[in-house]
Amino acid sequence: MSSCLDAAIPETTRHATSRFRPAIHFTARDTWLNDPNGLVYYGGLYHLFFQNNPYGSVWGNMSWGHATSRDLLHWTEHPVAIACDEEEDIFSGSVVVDHGNTSGFGTADHPALVAIYTSAYKAASEHHGTQAQSLAYSTDAGMTWRKYDGNPVLSRNSAHFRDPKVFRYQGERGAGWIMVAVEAQHQKVVLYRSDDLKSWEFLSDFGPANADQGEWECPDLFPLMVDGDPDNTKWVLIVNVNPGAVAGGSGGQYFVGTFDGVRFVPDAGSLAAPAGVSALDDPAAAAAALQQCLWLDWGRDCYASVSFSDAPDGRRIIIGWMNNWDYANQLPTAPWRSSMTLARELRLTEINGSARLIQQPVLPPARAEEAVHAVIGQMDAVAFDLRDSAFRLPDAVPGSAHIIEAEILTGSASHVAFHLFGDSEGSAGTLLTYHAAANQLVLDRRLSGNTGFHEKFPSVEAAPLVLEDGALKLQIVVDHCSVEVFAQDGKVVLTDLVFPEEGHTGNRLTVSGGQATIRTLTVTALN
Ligand code: FRU
Repeated sequence: MSSCLDAAIPETTRHATSRFRPAIHFTARDTWLNDPNGLVYYGGLYHLFFQNNPYGSVWGNMSWGHATSRDLLHWTEHPVAIACDEEEDIFSGSVVVDHGNTSGFGTADHPALVAIYTSAYKAASEHHGTQAQSLAYSTDAGMTWRKYDGNPVLSRNSAHFRDPKVFRYQGERGAGWIMVAVEAQHQKVVLYRSDDLKSWEFLSDFGPANADQGEWECPDLFPLMVDGDPDNTKWVLIVNVNPGAVAGGSGGQYFVGTFDGVRFVPDAGSLAAPAGVSALDDPAAAAAALQQCLWLDWGRDCYASVSFSDAPDGRRIIIGWMNNWDYANQLPTAPWRSSMTLARELRLTEINGSARLIQQPVLPPARAEEAVHAVIGQMDAVAFDLRDSAFRLPDAVPGSAHIIEAEILTGSASHVAFHLFGDSEGSAGTLLTYHAAANQLVLDRRLSGNTGFHEKFPSVEAAPLVLEDGALKLQIVVDHCSVEVFAQDGKVVLTDLVFPEEGHTGNRLTVSGGQATIRTLTVTALN
């Protein structure tokens, strides 16, 4: 391992890219990160471990970095938690609180935190060529970690067996641990069971299904009540796929179904008709088939989303990696590169007879707390109409992240568009457009600023969107290099990175092809 990469980054680059550093999204201080790992709430703190290269700004030397937060918005980075060595890289995985001391790593009074991670074995290892599941544990509330000397605890002699997510399950066989992991190149989620986290028994597998043209990675499986009804609980299986996501490259799909302690069975309403063609033979048919799958996010930059263990009040909170393997290593920032999405709370709701996920971003709490969350523009006192015209939104506090919240009756308008990070002429910027005829919400970053660092970065993505009583409801979280859109109360989510030109900070709303009624519109600084 070497630290040559950081030394090679000129001071001018550091300075030029510091303005892209997000205000409310987690980045490592001055290194590379990818997947969130080991998300766990313990002792009043949210722990975020993450795939980290402690020695550079591109993927490599994979280790688990570590940060903690009390509110999922302000993070403190700590020393590397689990470091790679000559024999293994530390790939993605999860952390559980071993309350019953089933592993024997802690005591009944002081449970250990146990990390279940993937050992990606290197040439120096006797297991070279395989990926297997290993344990590390912490008896000081997650601050320092020891690898278990019986590692690996689960091998299939496979080169692509990884990303274990473990949770506690109470069923017919009593309480035990369930692991979901992947055989990435076979598009399979594999399920195992254990009493002590050390010896594992195979249960079943699931897949291929829906988006199956790329590797399956970073699965998660958890129950949620449908519309808060305790008598109607469904299981959600998240499966990240790379490449082959709906917006291209990496993305997260999900299935809704049942889990009986052995097997996950998807509801019929969660399965798309198979495309029957490859994207190479018939790109249009393959793209149409992908639109039928269930996506956590329809944008380019939300991958490897997994949920917290032991989140308070039974909440189900996920964080994703705000990036895409298509161009991740080339993002124009250094020495830090990549960030996480905002934390998002998941719920299930019934839509047209099928249970579907909705997501709410975790934002600073009371809007009344002026210091944290100053309301800088509020026009919701009186609704107003716009016909074939543009409206300049009030500026956020210069340099701040902000949220635009709007409820718009789209009326006779053919297009309602938010132009974000715009210039004074109104030409450059990131465009978020509701197309009435297509019933689509479209995010277009082709003119968003620096898009030239990779040929796959300029992009346009479309998500199906159904108006509710004629209304388009948007929450748009804008940080220094990202746009996260939560539409229709979180039923449709789109996340894109953008790297705007210096000084392009204006936001405008444009209505064309008719008249729309702006019911509410607020811009709030989020610092
Ligand atoms: C997903 C992933 C995982 C793997 C990790 C390696 O982005 O490829 O499957 O464990 O990243 O960094």
